[in-house]
Parts: sequence; C-alpha cells; structure tokens
Amino acid sequence: MYRHVARSVIRGLLVNGSARQAGAGIRLLPASTAAARTTDHLLLARPFGRMDGGFPSSLGAASYLRMLSSSSSSEGKPVAEEEKKAVASSYWGISRPKVTREDGTDWPWNCFMPWESYRTDTSIDLTKHHVPKTFLDKFAYWTVKILRIPTDIFFQRRYGCRAMMLETVAAVPGMVGGMLLHLRSLRKFEQTGGWVKALLEEAENERMHLMTMVELVQPKWYERMLVLIVQGLFFNAYFVIYLVSPKLAHRVTGYLEEEAIHSYTEYLKDIRSGKIENVKAPAIAIDYWRLPKEATLEDVITVIRADEAHHRDVNHFASDVHYQGKKLKEAPAPIGYH
Ligand SMILES: [Fe+2]
Ligand SMILES: [Fe+2]
Repeated sequence: MYRHVARSVIRGLLVNGSARQAGAGIRLLPASTAAARTTDHLLLARPFGRMDGGFPSSLGAASYLRMLSSSSSSEGKPVAEEEKKAVASSYWGISRPKVTREDGTDWPWNCFMPWESYRTDTSIDLTKHHVPKTFLDKFAYWTVKILRIPTDIFFQRRYGCRAMMLETVAAVPGMVGGMLLHLRSLRKFEQTGGWVKALLEEAENERMHLMTMVELVQPKWYERMLVLIVQGLFFNAYFVIYLVSPKLAHRVTGYLEEEAIHSYTEYLKDIRSGKIENVKAPAIAIDYWRLPKEATLEDVITVIRADEAHHRDVNHFASDVHYQGKKLKEAPAPIGYH
C-alpha cells in the first residue's frame, strides 16, 4: 500500500512537469472536477511534434495512470456509492484525460488527438506522374485506368458520393502493406525502418478522409452493399498482389492516388463553379487539418487532394525502392509525410 502511494506521488511529480511542457497550447486536464476530488488522475504526457507540412519532428501521445482513492467523497455522497460508480466506469484504470483545444474548448474527438492533427502541405506538385515504362508499370497503370471506367459510369459527376465510396477502398492498401510488413518483421526478427508506421498512417489518413466525407454525404443502402462487395474483392486481391509483388502493389496504389487527385480536382471545379454548394467544413475536418473555423468544403477538398498527392509520392517511391532490388527498410520511411 505504502509502495503504491509512494509510486503515485513520484508519478504525480513527473507528470506535473511533463504536462506543463506539453506543447502547442493543448492542455491535458483532470477528467472532471468531481472525479478529481475522488480520484487521482495522473497524466503522463509526452510532448508532441507539430507537423506543419513536410516531415514532423515526432509523433506524440498521451497516456495516463489512474489510481483510485478510498478516502474521500464528493458532494456529500456516500463513499461506497462514489466507489461503485468509479469502479463501474474505470475498473481497468482507463479513463480519458480532459483534452482541450487552444481556445480552451473541449476536444470532442476520440478517434484522433490534437497531436495527430496537422496542416497539409498544399504546395505539393499535383501534376507529378510516374511514366510507366516496364511491363509491370504498364499493367498497374492500365489496371487503374480500366477500373476507372465503371466508376465514372456509376458516379458521373456526383463527386461527394464518389469520394466517399472511393475512400472506403483507398484506406485498404496502407493497411494491407503495413500488416504484411508487420508480420514480416515478426517472422524475420528484423526492423522495418519505420515503414509499418508510415503505411498504417496512410491507412488512417485515408480513413479520416472517409470520416470527413460521410459527414457530408450519407451512403444509401445499395452503396453500403457495394462497399461490402468491393472491400471483399479489393482487400483479397491487393493482399495477394502485395505478397507476390510489393513493387506492383505500390505502383497500383501510386496510380490510384493519381486518379484520386484528378477526381478531387474535378470536385473542386464543380464547387468553384457553383454546381456543388460550398458548404461549411465539417467540425471533424477543421480539427483534423487545423483549418480556420470559417473553413468551407473547398478548403477540405483542397487539403484532402494534397494528402492524396503525398500518398502518390510515398507509393511510387516504395515501388521504386523495390525496383532497385532493395528492401523498404533501406529507404527513409515517410513517417508523417503530409
Ligand atoms: Fe483519400
Ligand atoms: Fe490517398
């Protein structure tokens, strides 16, 4: 018991120091005043790297330790009742510290934290294109071009719907590649040079595109069915391709990203011409991309398009590494490349 208390005091001292240093004005506070009176919320915060375009200094995270106290009660309620409530909500010691934005308002998202948000480098060259020269490159290029035909027929110029549906596919390659590299790392007892993290980051970034688009467009029942079928087919196909030829898999994704840039450019054209209403940006997008409060759909599509251009670079680069007969871990992993 004494050892327990002593440990909590040491952690508390460490945490107070770390929390004060947590950067960029994001504050970590006890979960609630009432809870703080009945429990000790010990926040162990690591400073987080800002990602203002280009490579970030580091990714940060916060973890916390919570210890129950049996000695106090809040607002005159019986201790037993308080403890029962506390145990029911945090039996495993898991509760979220209160996180606030720079302006002091509550951070409403659980799916990402302030240190995972970033400002996209929108100055990235959108026109870059990998000219297919080898048979595999041409195969990848024409596969993507052919896949585009039914997509164009189905969606035509319904770019909101099109983007939402395509993001359900776009988030697959990073997850498959990251997963296979992860398993390889386990099998071979070797490091991956950061590529697992980089590819999983891409998958997560694509999923955030989807979470943003779904705020704007609600999928209809038949579109949900289509996603089920396409995901089943695409995941398995991409999994096999990545096992057989990662250089082909990354090239396919590189070309998919080039098509995504094209689609978002068309989307922007329709927004700017007034064909699509330039509505207010969803709140999730404002926080994720650190956009101004008055941001609009045009701003959101602009940053998503820039993300796609970064994914294009990452995947063509990964394919080129394989083409040189090298392993990905021998090349700089594009962690936080936005
Ligand atoms: Fe995307
Ligand atoms: Fe992408």
